[in-house]
Order: sequence, then structure tokens, then C-alpha cells
Amino acid sequence: MRLISSPSTLARWVRAALALGGLALLTGCDLNFWTMKGHQSTIDVDGPVAKAQLHVFYVTCWVTLVIFLIVGSVLAYAILKFRARTDADEHAEPPEQGHGNPLIELGLIGASVLALVIIAIPTIEAIGYTYDVPAEDKATAFEVNATAYQWWFKFEYPSEQIAGAGPLVAANELVIPVGRAVHINLRAMDVIHSFWVPKLAGKVDMIPNRGNFLWLKAETPGYYWGQCAEYCGDSHAVMRFRVIALGPRDFNEWVNRQTAPAREVAKVAAADQPKAQFASYRSDWKRNEKGWSPEFELNPFQGWQAQQEPDANHENPALIAQGRALFQSKTCFSCHVIRGHMVGGSGAYPDLTHVGARSTIAAGLLENTPEQLARWISHPDQVKPGNKMYATGYIPNNIKLTPDDVAALVAYLRSLK
Ligand code: CUA
Repeated sequence: MRLISSPSTLARWVRAALALGGLALLTGCDLNFWTMKGHQSTIDVDGPVAKAQLHVFYVTCWVTLVIFLIVGSVLAYAILKFRARTDADEHAEPPEQGHGNPLIELGLIGASVLALVIIAIPTIEAIGYTYDVPAEDKATAFEVNATAYQWWFKFEYPSEQIAGAGPLVAANELVIPVGRAVHINLRAMDVIHSFWVPKLAGKVDMIPNRGNFLWLKAETPGYYWGQCAEYCGDSHAVMRFRVIALGPRDFNEWVNRQTAPAREVAKVAAADQPKAQFASYRSDWKRNEKGWSPEFELNPFQGWQAQQEPDANHENPALIAQGRALFQSKTCFSCHVIRGHMVGGSGAYPDLTHVGARSTIAAGLLENTPEQLARWISHPDQVKPGNKMYATGYIPNNIKLTPDDVAALVAYLRSLK
């Protein structure tokens, strides 16, 4: 495709420059400055939209690099040639001053215009290309609605309607078909947010009362990290999401699982029922502590796949039943939908019908493990300052969870595959 340039010598220059410039400032970030690989790298990209944007970045780098070399050489030449060599030079009168050479001035104006034109042509081309799904992709394009809330993302699939329940709804993990253009309608319900998946496309603002959109395409099945890119309040920095791109067969299977009502765990006869065993989870949250394991960080796509299947051998039906009752008695159901299990919920909070099948919780901040889930539901305020679950749920309703309650709720939520 015409907009794509192969990462070249310039890529190595950019790497070196960023490494030197950024090393001191950004050592805490996930990006590897030598390889430019990282979950949210805009240089190591996938898909035509991100590649078109990267191409514009490289063109701009080339042009500014040439300007830097010309201006730098002239400056170095002048400094060396006209430097004071002797004592007499230092006290000498300045040489006769020139007042402009029309040829040089016109030449500089012409060169500046040329540099801008060189940058403008691919920029305008890329703006046109990335603006909306190209004609050749229109027929197979897939449509999704993304709505931003403080501080999470809702994803709706208008083409996947569930009888009596409207479109399929997911939270914080956007699963898309690979190789197909995805047209995403961007909305916001409270303040301005911004939708950004650095490896695929971005950033486009999500504005209350104003429709906006973008398109992207993943070329390889995989797991892509996303981030809200517009300051939107206390927990803006931890308002994240994920995009999972699947082949046609896997994608259809995912849709089938997701459109089904919440999973029922078979009840066992009272005599066979294992005695409820309550795990104790640590509840302390250390500042800047990562919410995911090194294994998950290394291979999040496998982590996501592993979450899809229920782990029936390690499930405790009695504990799950207790968690389900608690979900109702602690009024969790008044905000969160668990389709097929209880009536309640509202579209303004994450749908938890299949929360156990997500690889992350708390808007992409924590890996979906029993420990992190326990940490999140027992201290939501510490994980995500200012969040509504705590501020308008726990506090006014005086919701208190004992360690046993937490263990039961974790078991129940984990069973919702
Ligand atoms: Cu939403 Cu920043």
C-alpha cells in the first residue's frame, strides 16, 4: 500500500534519539527504547491506519532531520570560521554588517515552502485515508459503538442482537474480527475522553453530545493495549482498555458465548457439596504496583484465551451460589447486569454477564485473577481513586464486605465465563 514505508535507517535514528532523550524521563514506562517494542508503542504497529500515521511521523522526521543538519552545519561553520583567534581579534570592531541578500532570503522562503509541501502531501493523504473506512473495505466493515464513562469503556455490537436484551454489550475489552475494517462510533456520557490503541489507531476524542468515529483494522490476531488519551478526572491515567483481534472462526465462537445468558454452575446435592473454603486475599495496594503478572505481560493473548473456558475442576458450587446471593443482597445487581441471573442493572455500568472471560478488570488496570478481583472489590477506592462503585455505591449504601463475602463474590464472578 502506498502510504507504508518500511522502517529504515531513520527508524534507527529515531530510536537512538528517543533513547537518549527519553531514558532519563521515562524509565518507568513499558517501552523498550532500543527495540521500540512495547504494549503501547506507536513505532511497532499493526494495521493500515497505524501504519499510515507512522509513515507521516517518519516523513516529518526526515524533513526536520535534513533541516537540522543544514542549519547545524552552517552554524558550526560560522562558529569555527569567524571565531576570535587572537587577543586582537577579541577587541576588534565587528566586521561590516550585511543587510540581507535577496537571493538568499528568497531561497530560504522557497526552501521552507518546499519542506512544508513535502510534509503536507503525505499528511493530507493520510488524513483522507484514516478518516473513514476506504471504499474497498466498506462491504466487509464491522461496526461497534464505544462509549466512554468515568473511568471505563462500554462496547456495543449493533449487529449482534440478543432477543429481549438489545445489542451484545461488553466492557473494557473490545473483541474484533481480524482483517476486517472496524468502524467505531465514539460517544461519551460525562466528560471528554479519547480512544487510543497505539498499535492500531488513534487518537480520536469521545465527546458528550457529539457523534465522532474512527476506523481501524488489525492484520494479525492478537492482543492490543488501549488507553484513554484525554485527561478526564482522577483516574484518567488508569482508564484503559484492550482490543483482542480474532480469526473468523474464533470470533464467531466468541460471539456465540457472549450472546448466551450468564453461565449456570450445576448445583450439587447437599451431601456431595464440598465445604465452602474461603481463601484469604491480600488487600493492601502498594503505590505503583503492577496489576498483572510477568507471565501475563509477556503473553496477554494466551492469558485471554485461557480465560474463555470455565475451570470446572476448581470451582466450588456452594461458594458460587453464596456469591450469587451476595451479589443480590449487597445490591451489586442494581448497577451491574448479569443477564439471565437477576433482573436489574443499568447500561451506565459495566455489564458483568461474562466478566469471568475477560483478561482484565477495573478498565484494563488489573489482570483478572482471584487475587486482583478480591483487591478490586474490597478496596475499589484504592485501586481507582474517585470511582463510582465506591463513591456512589459502597459509601451511601454502607456496603461492607467481610473476607468471606469477598471470597464468595470472587468465586461467583470468576464462574461467569
Ligand atoms: Cu477518560 Cu481520560
